[in-house]
Formats: sequence, structure tokens, C-alpha cells
Amino acid sequence: MTKNIPSYLLQVGDPDRERLEILAELYNPGSKEFLQTHMPTDATSILDLGCGHGQMSNWFAQELPRGSVVGIDISDEQLVICAENKAAENVCNAQFFNHDIVSDKPDFAPFDVAYCRFLLMHVKSWECFFQNTLAACKAGGSIFIEEPAFPFFCYPESASLHRANFLGNQLSTKLGLNFDCISPLWRYIQNIDVDICAVGFSQPALISSREKSLLWRSFYQIKDALLATKLATVCEVQQIMTDLHGISSDPQSLVGGLRVIQLHLKKR
Ligand SMILES: C[S@@+](CC[C@H](N)C(=O)[O-])C[C@H]1O[C@@H](n2cnc3c(N)ncnc32)[C@H](O)[C@@H]1O
Repeated sequence: MTKNIPSYLLQVGDPDRERLEILAELYNPGSKEFLQTHMPTDATSILDLGCGHGQMSNWFAQELPRGSVVGIDISDEQLVICAENKAAENVCNAQFFNHDIVSDKPDFAPFDVAYCRFLLMHVKSWECFFQNTLAACKAGGSIFIEEPAFPFFCYPESASLHRANFLGNQLSTKLGLNFDCISPLWRYIQNIDVDICAVGFSQPALISSREKSLLWRSFYQIKDALLATKLATVCEVQQIMTDLHGISSDPQSLVGGLRVIQLHLKKR
């Protein structure tokens, strides 16, 4: 692990509540459409890996009122918010546990379906991830994966956004991660024990100021790591933050969120 940089780079719990809410508002429609189209009709048990604040876990639970959903995450702060959201939505068939999917398969396996979104981009060992995720699924079970590729796009063009995209990629490479997931993930799944059943892509347009705030909120999350790794100076980080705020408050600007690959894999 790089000194002073936590294994999960981003903030957790309350400080990341609004960013994950915006992320869910933007990406849930595309996720739900892909899942509703490809979810096996007889699935009754679902594992949501790296469930964050539990938005998708709670949705799965509502979609499958007679099924059971388990959300796992390595952060207790995230799990507190999962419990709050579960109570607010009156969900009774979802449970949340602290579990690191890279270190072991969950005890409560096997599941009909395993799902993750924006998780593999934060995981160094895809080998351990797939080993444990496949072990958590029944034979013939489904694995749904949604992971992004850089860059964020903006019209009119912004030198600061170009730089932020570049720095995000540099940082992930330096930390042994893949923020730019689509190509490496596609290559990786050719060599594991799964069949590829369906592939999709989604990319939301960010139009309101709240939606476009995803740019500065995302950059804010990595700024300390950029400084710790000396990839950027304090002055540069401040300038980029100011410019990204400017993009989000400009009513004329249009932002393209990160493009996401959607995969439906089946364990052989
Ligand atoms: C960017 S968030 C995505 C949350 C959620 N999947 C969503 O789409 O809203 C990634 C989550 O994965 C969790 N996480 C990171 N590494 C993990 C691991 N090895 N095992 C389980 N959860 C992990 C983090 O704590 C964080 O809550």
C-alpha cells in the first residue's frame, strides 16, 4: 500500500453521501434497465458486492419481495447509511454485512446472482475478486458487473477537466488500480471460467448544476492522494477545483459522465 493512502481511496459514510446519491440518480436507470432485461427469472438470492450506501441492494430487495439480498462492504460507515436507507424505504429482505470480497468468499454463499458497480476500479487483485465472487455463486449463477472508463467529457472543452482526467488515470496507475476499466476488464474475462451472456454500455448526460457537481465532487475525493503522491501541487489542485465548480454552475455547459460497461456473465 502506498504510504498514507488508504486501500479504498475515496471518502466513506456521510462525507460521500451526496456524491453517491447523485451517482445513483444518474446511473440507476441504466443499471435497472440492463438488470431487468437480463436477470434470470428464477433468481431469488442476490449478493451486492461493495454495496456503498445500498441503493441497488434495496432496489433488488423491492424487485424480489420473496427473495433475499445481501449487501457487503468493507466500510462500517457505508453500512450505517445502508441501514438508514433500508429503514427509510421499508425494506425487510435485505441484510448488510462488513466483508472484504478480495480476502474471502462471504459465509452466506451460494447466491443465484452476484452484482457489483464501481467496485473493480478500486480493487487491485482482480484474481482474488473473481475467485471469491465465483465461489459465492451457484453453478450456472449470474455475475453482473458495471465498471467505468475514463474520461469525463465536457462542452465547452476545459483544460482543467482534461488535466483532472489525466491525473485520475495517473493516480490509479500509480496505485495499481484501473479507473479506466473497460479494456482491461474485457481482456480479463476472456480467461476466466465464465460465459459472456450480454454486454451493454451506459453513459449519463449531466445537465443540472447538481448533476455536474459530480465532476468536482469526484476530483475532491482524489485530491489528497494526488498531493500525497506528488502528482499535483496544491496550487494546481485549487485551480482545477475552481474550474470544475465553474463548469457545474455554468448553465450552458454539458458534461458526459463516465461511460460504463455492463456485463452479464455466467459461472460455468
Ligand atoms: C464507489 S463505491 C460504489 C458503491 C455502490 N456499488 C454504487 O454503485 O453506488 C465502492 C464501494 O466499494 C467498497 N469496497 C471497496 N473495496 C471493497 C472490497 N474489497 N470488498 C467489499 N467492498 C469494497 C467501498 O467501501 C465503497 O463503498
